[in-house]
Amino acid sequence: MAANLLLHDDQTITLRGERFRIYLDAKQIQERVHEIGRQITRDYDGKRPILIGILNGAFMFLSDLMKSLRMDCEVDFMKLSSYGAEMITSGVVRELKKTDADLEGRHVLIVEDIVDTGLSMQYIPDKMREHAPASLRTVTLLHKFEATEVDVPLDYVGFRIRNRFVVGYGLDYGQVGRNLPDIYELDPNGADQPAQ
Ligand code: IMP
Repeated sequence: MAANLLLHDDQTITLRGERFRIYLDAKQIQERVHEIGRQITRDYDGKRPILIGILNGAFMFLSDLMKSLRMDCEVDFMKLSSYGAEMITSGVVRELKKTDADLEGRHVLIVEDIVDTGLSMQYIPDKMREHAPASLRTVTLLHKFEATEVDVPLDYVGFRIRNRFVVGYGLDYGQVGRNLPDIYELDPNGADQPAQ
């Protein structure tokens, strides 16, 4: 099987024939995740939040964020329909996996990788409210604020980014690229040059 991911140097990669360049490196990401972790630890003092990771993209952020919390906390997951193999959203949100935990009376923190149109993040709190949590907050690592079409309450945001497709650190392009520790953005200069 031909490789979908080609690493050229520290700055550029090719993913499924498209050229991407570095946007946020692992050190920047880790520093910001730890800042958010410290803030959440302060904000939830005396409480025991349950983090709900939105699969698949949020798993890496969730893992690092949870390690940075200095308190009792729990984790569960839900899964929504995603982009599929494309770079544009389908605009239709469906729940593919429900949470298993009993969320009634709990302090729920929704953990997303990225908010783009905002449709997913708008859908999730509505679903969650059916479970009658004691409180509900949201955290996203990335927010494509120029692309967001609906009003979504975001309590913690890692980075506000421009409206360009990104991969790495859990985010995929057609299921590849999630394993990259850095985040790359699509190179607007277009098509890939064959790797030397
Ligand atoms: P929204 O519902 O349009 O806000 O999109 C949210 C979901 O779309 C995210 O959880 C991601 O799975 C996916 N997504 C949005 N933008 C990107 C991107 O730039 N790269 C990879 N996935 C993305």
